[in-house]
Amino acid sequence: MTVAAKSPTADVRDLALADEGKRRTEWAERNMPVLRLIRERFAKTRPLAGRRLSACLHVTSETANLAVTLQAGGADVALCASNPLSTQDDVAAHLVRDHGIKTFAIKGEDHETYYDHIRACLAHRPDITMDDGADLVGALHMLALGRLDDLAPPVRRWVDGLSAADRKAVLDGVVGSTEETTTGVIRLKAMAKDGVLRFPVIAVNNSETKHLFDNRYGTGQSTVDGILRATNMLLAGATAVVAGYGWCGRGVAMRLRGHGANVIVTEVEPVKALEAVMDGYRVMPMAEAASLGDVFVTLTGDVDVIRVEHMRRMKDGAIVANSGHFNVEIDLAGLAKAARGPRAVRGFVDEWVLDGKRVFVLGEGRLINLAAAEGHPASVMDMSFANQALGAEYLVEHGAELSSDVHNVPQKLDREIAVLKLRAMGVGLDELTPEQRHYLASWDLGT
Ligand code: NAI
Repeated sequence: MTVAAKSPTADVRDLALADEGKRRTEWAERNMPVLRLIRERFAKTRPLAGRRLSACLHVTSETANLAVTLQAGGADVALCASNPLSTQDDVAAHLVRDHGIKTFAIKGEDHETYYDHIRACLAHRPDITMDDGADLVGALHMLALGRLDDLAPPVRRWVDGLSAADRKAVLDGVVGSTEETTTGVIRLKAMAKDGVLRFPVIAVNNSETKHLFDNRYGTGQSTVDGILRATNMLLAGATAVVAGYGWCGRGVAMRLRGHGANVIVTEVEPVKALEAVMDGYRVMPMAEAASLGDVFVTLTGDVDVIRVEHMRRMKDGAIVANSGHFNVEIDLAGLAKAARGPRAVRGFVDEWVLDGKRVFVLGEGRLINLAAAEGHPASVMDMSFANQALGAEYLVEHGAELSSDVHNVPQKLDREIAVLKLRAMGVGLDELTPEQRHYLASWDLGT
């Protein structure tokens, strides 16, 4: 079979990159033992047989292992990027050439192409969608609500070409979806609250084996990796400002401190702010932190966390990055109006001149761990993607019984993933004795 980099079933940069993508995907697989076990079982039991699955995820070597697992389970998989800068072109080429997975993703793709790739995944007519940031579900719901003007032009053109019956078939075909990240879950809960969510969604992010590890240790390490690869700055002795002390912010603050940075945290939630104080960080409003930081990173899932008024206060040469899901945490539109630039001074580093001082923005304000580095290490994505694979299986088995709401992965599966991961790591743990089980379930024993 001959395959092309661009065809109705693929749009990737260059198939000649596939060998490198294959090597890197195999490297990631070495550290994904839980997903490997799931793949082996899926290959035997084929729980996704006959299902069309469209996934909008960061197209990395870890995601390739998930896509191949879903395919082993019998799914016909289409994949597009959940961020224009996070695609690993060699991995995309490998998926097309060696697995025949319909892949639509090119690193650095423009807005039009990004949405044309989302269009391709919708045109795959999925039974199940898998999102990282709710872009597929968002587009499907704009279609369902008749808000066609809110669709990006490539999606709009496709919808305009569909008959009413086909539109209905696209919408009615979806059994459910899974969602990878905090921001996506927030969007989906807002949709459920407004009564517009049309099908059940499994919030993979809410699994303990996801956010406790992926968001904290994965984002912690890879965000610092992204900042270092982009800048090669010395963190020891630098003042680093971390906006948001949630799961991701905790991880990044911890790893920045490990490199010898003096870390300042900014927060809006009092308990989180208190936690950061007791973890030993300075906590203050961004307006104060702005003049102190050498490097800033936002991980809030919120909009305009670093604004022009803050950037005006920054030292000459301050470095500003984001690792939250969307590129909305730094007010780049405001910066573009107030400052001169951008001038690309290194890969993933843009210089802006504001009031005669330089501000360096990394990765166009997109999540820096995926733009300038490789995203989370495989061994942490092993657990996140085990949740995705089991979540998809759960949707096939139970989707019809679930309400159109945001549901967690059942706790039993979450625990099962932890058990498998521990086993793969060679870590043993104790078991409750019958006496202990009885004691812990009683209220009238022991004083
Ligand atoms: P979280 O909800 O645990 O933490 C967010 C924190 O930001 C909260 O403590 C909140 O109070 C705080 N916050 C909100 N607005 C703020 C503001 N204006 N100033 C300061 N703090 C503010 O969320 P989590 O899981 O840490 O995720 C954060 C973002 O990172 C989300 O957009 C999520 O989708 C994304 N994410 C990125 C990953 C990556 O690979 N870069 C991986 C996982 C999540």
